Amino acid sequence: MKFETLLIHGGMTEDPLTGSVNIPIYQTSTFRQEGLGINKGFEYARTKNPTRSALERLIAELEEGHEGFAFSSGMAAITTVMSLFNQGDRILISDNLYGGSYRVLDKVFKRFGFEYDIVDTTQIENVKRIFNSNYKAILIETPTNPLLGISDIEVISQIAHAYNAIVIVDNTFMTPYLQKPLRLGADIVVHSGTKYLGGHSDLVAGLVVTSSEQLSQRIAFLQNAMGAILGPQDSFLLVRGIKTLALRMDRHIENTKEILKYFGQSSDIVKIYHPDLDTHPNHEIVLKQSKSGGAMISFELNSNINLNKFLSSLKVITLAESLGGVESLISHPASMTHASYPKEYRHKIGITENLIRLSVGIEHYTDLIQDIEYAIKESKQ
Ligand SMILES: Cc1ncc(COP(=O)(O)O)c(C=O)c1O
Repeated sequence: MKFETLLIHGGMTEDPLTGSVNIPIYQTSTFRQEGLGINKGFEYARTKNPTRSALERLIAELEEGHEGFAFSSGMAAITTVMSLFNQGDRILISDNLYGGSYRVLDKVFKRFGFEYDIVDTTQIENVKRIFNSNYKAILIETPTNPLLGISDIEVISQIAHAYNAIVIVDNTFMTPYLQKPLRLGADIVVHSGTKYLGGHSDLVAGLVVTSSEQLSQRIAFLQNAMGAILGPQDSFLLVRGIKTLALRMDRHIENTKEILKYFGQSSDIVKIYHPDLDTHPNHEIVLKQSKSGGAMISFELNSNINLNKFLSSLKVITLAESLGGVESLISHPASMTHASYPKEYRHKIGITENLIRLSVGIEHYTDLIQDIEYAIKESKQ
């Protein structure tokens, strides 16, 4: 089945009880048991709920994995995956991971004696040089947030597997429509379902997909033990959002191309970060492992433009945290998504005070470009 068809018919979209073409919202905490140990596959809704199961089966099929798991947020998904590790374990992480992922490792797991080291995974030589048998896993985002650095999932997987370490890929920015990390050798995929998968900025959710029976059993145990599950209402909404993923992504990408064209010709934009530009240092890798470089653009404005004034002058594009919704959202990583990194470190890796991140929505691109042009005009000093 083609991916676009799987989006609509994958998982368990029809209710087995009534034939309803949409999976109902099973708003229940428990299920009647006919006798001790006799049930219909569901006992208690933290462990399993049919609406959540439909979503979990769907994401497993889309990512071509063994099993899917749905959580109350992307951070709940990442926290649960990190709970696979023990005191004294070490993992490697990409150097501009989402601020919240860095924060949970630095401020929470480190207190329990589980440590991390940071590496620029976009330079494969760094990964080769630093990897050793002390590392139990590597956690990467590709593209990275917000600098859109690209790492080679296939080669990183080969390096990590040589040391029996597992490869965890945060596929939030790409979605399985554009990139399939498990097919490239990764062991676990995580998502903030809040973003492109949900697609409408109306829910917060997280997803995990595993590549093997053994990992599935361990994540299922942790999901039930830690309990950060996604409720049935949000599971329903996420299944509904996923149905239009391909259509939305195509439009996000079309708009991104137009905005990149405009940015490339504008003297007001001094730096542009996007994996589809042939000036991007790892453009070749994106061509190899992904269908497209996605719909996130980071950029810096000329120094004669007041950044604050620019952001507040936008009328169509919304200044807000988050990304991947139908509406275009703009953010200032240094003070918003990446504020949890120390300032010196942020600057070292290129997240300057001037950097702006744009999540290109599905509006008409001419309105987006006009909005940016207007805000630039208003904020020149
Ligand atoms: C790449 C990435 N991973 C994980 C998260 C965390 O997801 P959530 O906000 O759903 O907890 C985010 C949130 O912005 C993100 O951008």
